[in-house]
Amino acid sequence: MTPEIDVHLAPGWWRATLESEIRAGLTADRKAIPAKWLYDERGSQLFDEITRLDEYYPFRAEREILQEHSVAITAASTADTLVELGSGTSEKSRVLLDAMRRNGQLKRYVPFDVSEEMLRIAAVEIAEAYPGIEVHGIVGDFDRHIPDAPVRGRGMIAFLGSTIGNLEPGMRAPFIDDVVKALDRDGSFLVGTDLVKDVDRLWAAYNDAEGISAEFNLNILRMLNRELDANFDLDNFRHSAEWDAENEWIDIGLRSLADQRVRIGALDLTIDVAEGEEIHTEISAKFHLDGIADELAGAGLELVDQWTDRRGDFALTLARKP
Ligand code: SAH
Ligand code: TRP
Repeated sequence: MTPEIDVHLAPGWWRATLESEIRAGLTADRKAIPAKWLYDERGSQLFDEITRLDEYYPFRAEREILQEHSVAITAASTADTLVELGSGTSEKSRVLLDAMRRNGQLKRYVPFDVSEEMLRIAAVEIAEAYPGIEVHGIVGDFDRHIPDAPVRGRGMIAFLGSTIGNLEPGMRAPFIDDVVKALDRDGSFLVGTDLVKDVDRLWAAYNDAEGISAEFNLNILRMLNRELDANFDLDNFRHSAEWDAENEWIDIGLRSLADQRVRIGALDLTIDVAEGEEIHTEISAKFHLDGIADELAGAGLELVDQWTDRRGDFALTLARKP
C-alpha cells in the first residue's frame, strides 16, 4: 500500500514559525536556536552519521534493548498501531514492527517527524517491507501536532533515541500530557532515555574525534544562511558540548570565536555576538530509572516495565494509560 502522508507543516506555517522562533531566540538575553531546526535534509543525514560513530553509544544501546526485548515489549503493550515521534530513518522502529508482526498484532505504523524528506523515504521503505499494513506518516512538530496523530484504538506511542532529553525541562510535562491525551484507555507510551553515567563517556558521545557532532551542530548556521539570508561565518563559531553536573544534561551550543556582527536579512535583524558568547542549540538530559518512572506516573500513566542494555547505559520504559 502506498503510504498516506499528512503534512501539518504547510510551507507558510513552517516559514512563519522559523522566522518567529529564530527572531525570539537570537534577540533573547541568552541567545538560542531551537533544536528542531538542526534537522534539515543535511542535518538529518549528519545525525544518521552520528548514530554510527564509535563514541555515540546511545543508538546501539537502545537497539540492543529492542533486539532483546521487543517481543516482550510489544506483547505487553497489546498495541496494533505503532506511532513513533521523531522517527527519523525509522531504523529502530523495524525491530518493534518485526516483533508486532511476529505476535500477529501489527496493523498500522505512524511515523511522525519534522523532517519531511527523511519521513517520506522512511514511510515508503516501511510500506514496501511490511506489505498489508497501513503506513500513515505525519510531517509535524511534536511540540504542537501530537493531538493530530491518528492513534485510534490500540496504540503505542514510541519516543526513542532519548529525544525526550532534548526537550527543555519545562516542556517535558506538557509533552507527556499531550501523549497521554492522544492515547485511548490501555494505550501505551514507550520512551527511550539515556542514563547518567561516567562523564568521560557522556562527553565523548557529543565530542567525537571525527567532528561529525560539531558539523551537525554548525549546520544550523548554514541553514539560517540559506533560509533566512543570514551571513554567519561558520569559521568564527566552535561546537561546544559540556556536561552540566547540576542539571545532569549535556549543554550544547555554538561558541563565538570573536566579537562579531551578524545580519539576518530575511528578518531585517542585526545581532552582535561577543567573543566567548554561546548560542545555545540543545540540551541532552540524562536520566535515572526512578526519575523517568516518576515523571510518567506524574502524568497519570502506570508503569508496565523498564529494560536496560547489558552495560546499563540506556533504558526503555513502557507505561500504560489506565
Ligand atoms: N528516533 C530516531 C531519531 C532520533 S533524532 C532514533 O532514535 O535514532 C531526533 C528526531 O526527531 C529527528 O529525526 C528529528 O527530525 C526529529 N525531531 C526533532 N524535533 C522535532 C519536533 N519538534 N517535531 C517532530 N520531530 C522532531
Ligand atoms: N538526540 C540526540 C541526543 O541527544 C541529539 C544529538 C546527538 C546532538 N549528538 C548531538 C545534538 C550533537 C547536537 C550536537 O543524543
